[in-house]
Amino acid sequence: MKQIDKVKFDTKEQLYKYMNIKLTGLIGDESDWLANLSNTSALLNLLIDDINWVGFYLMKNEKLKLGPFQGKPACVDIEVGKGVCGTAVASKEVQLVKNVHDFPGHIACDAVSNSEIVLPITIDGKAVAVLDIDSPTLHRFDEEDQAGLEKIVQTLIKYVDWSFIE
Ligand code: SME
Repeated sequence: MKQIDKVKFDTKEQLYKYMNIKLTGLIGDESDWLANLSNTSALLNLLIDDINWVGFYLMKNEKLKLGPFQGKPACVDIEVGKGVCGTAVASKEVQLVKNVHDFPGHIACDAVSNSEIVLPITIDGKAVAVLDIDSPTLHRFDEEDQAGLEKIVQTLIKYVDWSFIE
């Protein structure tokens, strides 16, 4: 495997473009979902500054179950409609939370988190998983992060075999 380094970019657009190229290189030829989501969380943790948690929750038995991630140990089960992750699944919309303390029902897995972005991963109209990223900095994520991460999610939809989701 080729070495992937932390690189500095002038714009977030450049950062996410680089990230997407590296992600495609990592998962494009691999079909194992666990390997692919594990490598994705490691790549994002390496390349995105100022975050304390990044990873996946996956739909299992009508609930979200903790998947591959980087960061402190986290809550294992989240019900649809609960917290930021469960809201992303129920609404099938990105949750860009500039201050988690203002989000009703936010689930605090790591007390240092102050802002968060959660992107639903939707296949054929069904939310199968979420990508969740937490930061200790208020207002850490903006619309440029959202746009870049939406493209990352498109790459995940394209290359990960999601058929294991119940
Ligand atoms: N804050 C999330 C819970 C998951 S942790 O951030 C890893 C939520 O409110 O759904």
